Amino acid sequence: MKSLEGKHIVLGVTGGIAAYKSVMLLRLLIKEGAEVQVVMTPNAKEFVAPVTFSSLSGKPVVSEFFTANTGEWHSHVDLGLWSDLMVIAPATAATIGKLANGIADNMLVTTYLSAKSPVMIAPAMDLDMWIHPSTQRNMEVLKGDGVMTVAPGSGELASGLNGKGRMAEPSEILKAIKDFFAKGEELKGKRILVTSGPTYENLDPVRFIGNYSSGKMGFNLAEAFLRRGGEVFLITGPVSVEIPDHPRLHRIDVRSAREMLAATEPLFSDMDIAVFAAAVADYAPEEKADKKIKRENAETLSIKLRRNPDIAATLGKEKRGQITVGFALETDHELENAARKIQTKNLDLIVMNSLQDPEAGFMKDTNKVTIIDKEGEKTEFGVKSKREVAEDIVDTIIKYRFTVTKDQISNIQDQISKNKDKESV
Ligand code: C5P
Repeated sequence: MKSLEGKHIVLGVTGGIAAYKSVMLLRLLIKEGAEVQVVMTPNAKEFVAPVTFSSLSGKPVVSEFFTANTGEWHSHVDLGLWSDLMVIAPATAATIGKLANGIADNMLVTTYLSAKSPVMIAPAMDLDMWIHPSTQRNMEVLKGDGVMTVAPGSGELASGLNGKGRMAEPSEILKAIKDFFAKGEELKGKRILVTSGPTYENLDPVRFIGNYSSGKMGFNLAEAFLRRGGEVFLITGPVSVEIPDHPRLHRIDVRSAREMLAATEPLFSDMDIAVFAAAVADYAPEEKADKKIKRENAETLSIKLRRNPDIAATLGKEKRGQITVGFALETDHELENAARKIQTKNLDLIVMNSLQDPEAGFMKDTNKVTIIDKEGEKTEFGVKSKREVAEDIVDTIIKYRFTVTKDQISNIQDQISKNKDKESV
């Protein structure tokens, strides 16, 4: 079977000289069995005639909102629903700017805004345009919005200059597309618990102790697990982020650390994987006032706090073959602290993000993580959108699940040697 058989791809082409390479990309996609609908910006048609794309794709190119003579309306909403992946190649600086700011003045950007599917872009422009702060800023915004990028390469540019900005080769873009679709349903039938968001610990009926966790990382993880076929149990603290309904998503809303533990504990024994992405408050007020605490004349007010249960550590003690993954957000001695947490919480993997990194952390759309496993094996990732970080974490869990650890190998080896000794007695 061809690797892209049955896949619906919207190929967006914008007005850059690299548009000629999109013809090659389209041919490769068709050869792999994909069904492709080409959407061109008005400028793109100055570079390559639409008939080239329509002949190769077997579908009329969409470029205008209406067919001028018949008044027939082309629905960007239908296209957005039809697509399994939208690929914009080349993506010019102008289009990148419009995508980042939602300037829907042509069919391509409108389709982008309507797309329910993931989106991948292959930027192409002159080197000075690529490194301009404006372009880089827009790229950051798109990264945060979860858009995947096939990075431009270095080399000779249409301007005669040499440097970065040249669109990735069609074969490279095809590989990125194939890799995207190759991610199958490896977690079909698996049950996954994800804790997410902050916890709020009430002081009185109107006040609480909380933290800045947005819940974005946990929600992105839940979506990544769903994409891989898993059944997800999402236990979330109070957040304002949204997650679309899904038949395999079960959401439980909680407020305090104790409520979060009460929601997770009965589920844990039936789980295959548990990821503790919640920023759980370490302490809660020992007593919760029934009425609003009145301002006193005194200059200070003391509130006695009592330690909250550690959800990851509690469930770590009840572990029967589940893979458990924790997060660590450290300000100092990051690696040592992360490694210690693997032990104390009986984790398989820990995802470390550093507060020292300006692009990582609570309120951000991007994150930069290092994943450490039980054996101290470390994998560092670059700055990515939380959506991509979630994919990396899920990939690492899948790899971990199906990889026999060094410990297991040496245990088996020990067992065989012992049995041999017995036989020879
Ligand atoms: O010990 P620390 O709070 O830094 O550990 C962070 C990890 O432990 C995170 O995965 C977090 O979700 C989890 N945790 C928990 N319950 C707590 C505190 C932390 O599950 N009370």
